[in-house]
Amino acid sequence: EDDEDLEIRPPVVTVMGHVDHGKTKLLDSIRHSNVVAGESGGITQHIGAYQVWKEHEGNERAITFIDTPGHEAFTAMRARGAEVTDLAILVVAADDGVMPQTVEALNHAQAAGVPIVVAVNKVDKEGANPAKVRQQLTEFGLVAEEYGGDTMFVDVSARTGLGIEDLMDAVLLTADAGLDLRSNPNRDARGVAIEARLDKGRGAVATVLIQTGTLRVGDSIVAGTAYGRVRAMTDENGVAIVEAYPSRAVQVQGLSSVPRAGDTFLVTEEDRTARQVAEKREAAERNASLAKARKRISLEDFM
Ligand code: GTP
Ligand code: NA
Ligand code: MG
Repeated sequence: EDDEDLEIRPPVVTVMGHVDHGKTKLLDSIRHSNVVAGESGGITQHIGAYQVWKEHEGNERAITFIDTPGHEAFTAMRARGAEVTDLAILVVAADDGVMPQTVEALNHAQAAGVPIVVAVNKVDKEGANPAKVRQQLTEFGLVAEEYGGDTMFVDVSARTGLGIEDLMDAVLLTADAGLDLRSNPNRDARGVAIEARLDKGRGAVATVLIQTGTLRVGDSIVAGTAYGRVRAMTDENGVAIVEAYPSRAVQVQGLSSVPRAGDTFLVTEEDRTARQVAEKREAAERNASLAKARKRISLEDFM
């Protein structure tokens, strides 16, 4: 791909951290909406993906956020070879401090080579100790700038909104300092399915993250072993859209089956090609599991 075809795309940011440290509430605060209130038991059941705009150093900048239930989804996608995240926000509740899943989350991000911005959340609470969080995280190689390191820590309260603007600025500063966020919007789209489900009325509904190119209603796509034409596309608010650019996450309808998180998708010139690619992938998967089964049998035979 020629350099001149490349255009700046928004950073894709995954919000990670220990259970109940405020990942979803933080995103609510960023979007000025209220997802937490609508969640059963206050536990995130699926991946939410949202794009927000932020005025930053005189420019309007977009950021795509991905909210994960725990970090299994992140791990599952990585295990399947999908690297969708440019940057991670590690949410640590200031009253609770570093917890086991905080460490797991930062290990995942570090293993993926993804820069981390730390959101020290719940600073409105009695017993909040943001200095202690900074001190605890130095042990894991996350040293705050004010302690001579190069990790940005931002004190926030997802409840009151304190520090939220600063957090988004920190994300954009970190992205601009260390990441080459460019891709070509003028080609057939490619990307990754980040979640999918079967909807009673709408059939297979997949949330796909576009990594390069532009996805349009009417495009033929293959996602994992699912294929079909994009019948409709909606954004995170259910609003219909006709074109989706790099770093945008959209819900698509029209696939023959439900893809898995981490499945790559691509647009094909013809419907027929999408079906053929899907069928080839399915055959390959079938052969792989057959080979595995055979291996198991032959091992048992010799034991
Ligand atoms: P999981 O998705 O279950 O892992 O949780 P989560 O990390 O998304 O946490 P969530 O946003 O559901 O918040 C957990 C609880 O903490 C909720 O009751 C929130 O209202 C509360 N909470 C989140 N942020 C803050 C904050 O800044 N201050 C205070 N006081 N409470 C907060
Ligand atoms: Na929760
Ligand atoms: Mg949540």
